[in-house]
Amino acid sequence: MLNLRVFALLMICALLDVGNLRAQTIIPIETNRNALVLQVAANKDVNVIYFGKKLGNVADYALVPGMYKQAEDYTSSYNSAYTPAGSRNLLEPAIAITHADGNQSLDLKYVSHSVKALSDGVSQLSVVLKDPVYNTAVTLYYKAYFATDVIEQWCTIKNLEKGDITLQKFASANLYLKGDNYWLKQYHGDWAKEMRPEESKLTHGIKTLDTKLGTRANIFQPSVFMVSLGKPATEDEGSVLYGGLEWSSNFKIDFEVDPQDNLRIIAGINNHPSSYKLKASQEFTTPAFWYVLGNSGKGDLSRKVHNWARNYKILDGNGQRRTLLNNWEATFFDFNESRLFELLKDTKKLGVDLFLLDDGWFANKYPRNSDHTGLGDWQENKQKLPNGISSLVKEAQQNGVKFGIWVEPEMVSPKSELYEKHPDWVIKQPKREEYYFRNQLVLDLSNPKVQDFVFGVVDGLFAKNPALAYIKWDCNAVIYNAYSAYLKKDQSQFYVDYTQGLYNVLERLRGKYPTVPMMLCSGGGGRVDYAALQYFTEYWPSDNTDPLERIFIQWDYSYFYPAIASANHVTDWGKQPIKFRTDVAMMGKLGFDIVVSKLGAADLAFCQQAIKNYDAVKDIIWHGDQFRLASPYEGSVASFLYMNKAKASGIMFSYLVNNRYGEKSALPIKITGLDTAKKYRLTEINLYDNAKTSVNSNQIYSGDFLTKVGFNPDINTRRTSVVLKVEEVK
Ligand code: DGJ
Repeated sequence: MLNLRVFALLMICALLDVGNLRAQTIIPIETNRNALVLQVAANKDVNVIYFGKKLGNVADYALVPGMYKQAEDYTSSYNSAYTPAGSRNLLEPAIAITHADGNQSLDLKYVSHSVKALSDGVSQLSVVLKDPVYNTAVTLYYKAYFATDVIEQWCTIKNLEKGDITLQKFASANLYLKGDNYWLKQYHGDWAKEMRPEESKLTHGIKTLDTKLGTRANIFQPSVFMVSLGKPATEDEGSVLYGGLEWSSNFKIDFEVDPQDNLRIIAGINNHPSSYKLKASQEFTTPAFWYVLGNSGKGDLSRKVHNWARNYKILDGNGQRRTLLNNWEATFFDFNESRLFELLKDTKKLGVDLFLLDDGWFANKYPRNSDHTGLGDWQENKQKLPNGISSLVKEAQQNGVKFGIWVEPEMVSPKSELYEKHPDWVIKQPKREEYYFRNQLVLDLSNPKVQDFVFGVVDGLFAKNPALAYIKWDCNAVIYNAYSAYLKKDQSQFYVDYTQGLYNVLERLRGKYPTVPMMLCSGGGGRVDYAALQYFTEYWPSDNTDPLERIFIQWDYSYFYPAIASANHVTDWGKQPIKFRTDVAMMGKLGFDIVVSKLGAADLAFCQQAIKNYDAVKDIIWHGDQFRLASPYEGSVASFLYMNKAKASGIMFSYLVNNRYGEKSALPIKITGLDTAKKYRLTEINLYDNAKTSVNSNQIYSGDFLTKVGFNPDINTRRTSVVLKVEEVK
């Protein structure tokens, strides 16, 4: 049913003629807090005239441009809603086309617009543009999520000419912001070093975030970013924009501070080396670019993103997840059926829900005993598993736990039967030497036969083992020597077709298996984005599970992705005690990857109790609101709070992140996220059996006190990790 707010929005988006200011069509896209306002100029250009807090009077938007006395815009199009190349544009274009006759000019003029309500609180504006000279049409789409202020923007480009045209550039969105300074927070990384932040002031000209790696595209740089307006926003103050591209491959985001000091953001698929040919009457739909603007700091905005992601993006974002024991670091490739039977018993003993069998279970001619062989040959290895996966699934059932399995179906080892049988399915240059990433190559998903094969790998596992309860989908290689034997002369389409091929497979799988939980893994966080996450229930942030490192990595992912999607495993990485490791892994979806049989009695009892504690509070961590209380980048103590929506129950995690002599929580930590009118009790949990706590759970604090003065969890070099249950007292 159309609610009142959406109805109001539809009314507002109706065409407004502001007679006393020249006839101009104003198209406001309003959400709960914001307005992004387009204007159709007298020459039919569509420009962005406002993006900020929404105004009380819709007619006032037309007055906004008159309030700016900036340098001259020679083209009257620096603020184009979708900048075409090759006519009068002087800046970075959003779209560039070579027409059928070889001409490279494009101009886009307003034709029409319409708004429709998609569901409660979600509406979609489309604006049709057309070149007056060439038969090229572009439709811009703005999908607005009223409650969270998030907008997704994309477009379709249609070739109405008689011959082929080539899209040289085809961005998803072209944003335009006014501010007196712009501070970009971006992320860089590598294997085990994901999500390292850098913040810098944007200067005139263009700053680009991009990747050209194809698969595992984000290992050097993800597309998510923040731009603070004026000065760097803090957790609780400042204007800031978040954004990211919903595309699991090459992207390019340009931040251009233009000659008028305004910020243009042009985001889309990386057009290098991906020009795209469109045949007559064919159209191309770009992926969506999501963004959200706020003025109450980074924390508030991240909570909006979390709500949006759980409601609309992540598969089963509001649902349940299973705790698990994974065998990767316990065994690597070295296991057999009886070893796995032991691990299944340990799964039960530990008290988690599921056992996840990792890499190494398949291939016979070239057994998968190391990462050099066997990828592509997805038959159980007869030596390790003479009775197949089905015997493991059965054994799991007998132990009262579920069973999940690792696959990496997009990949192939040079030493594999698959490679021998189908060399033309492999991405490689026909005349050049092969070059490997983790000793493997990537299959050509632009080829429908390969798509069938990849679908068949997972489908086959389910067909034989209907009780399979979890899939970990890995992707460990980037694409070198990009060449598709299938695409022949159309190589420039390769990266786009590959990615669409991947989505085809995932779409088919989700059509058949809509609910089975799947982890999105890419040798760590090499492929985390909201296009992929619509098929996955969770992502693997990093192979780096050293808990000290994870505090930083999880801190930064948490701006863009909710805790329910963060698969965190307790492993033997790092020097921290198992309590510290478990506490950190609890801030998301908890799993273990340790040798349970090697745990001492006290450690085992601790883990068992911590899992029970987790089961009692996981609903808050997964479905509540997250507050970042103390940054690991700014002090010796990091602290996180998860509160349920009613602000009645929560869980607070605090850690020592600097082990220098005498470091401690000298000052109280202000607990934002509470109701100042409520009273709370704080109780320490995740303690060893007879451990003492310095936290007095008999003391009742007002929310007012905890917010303004704060609470000291008493972190020091002997208490490096403290978990507190926060409960309302009536
Ligand atoms: C990379 C993943 O990130 C690891 O967790 C593990 O699954 C290995 N691949 C297996 O090869």
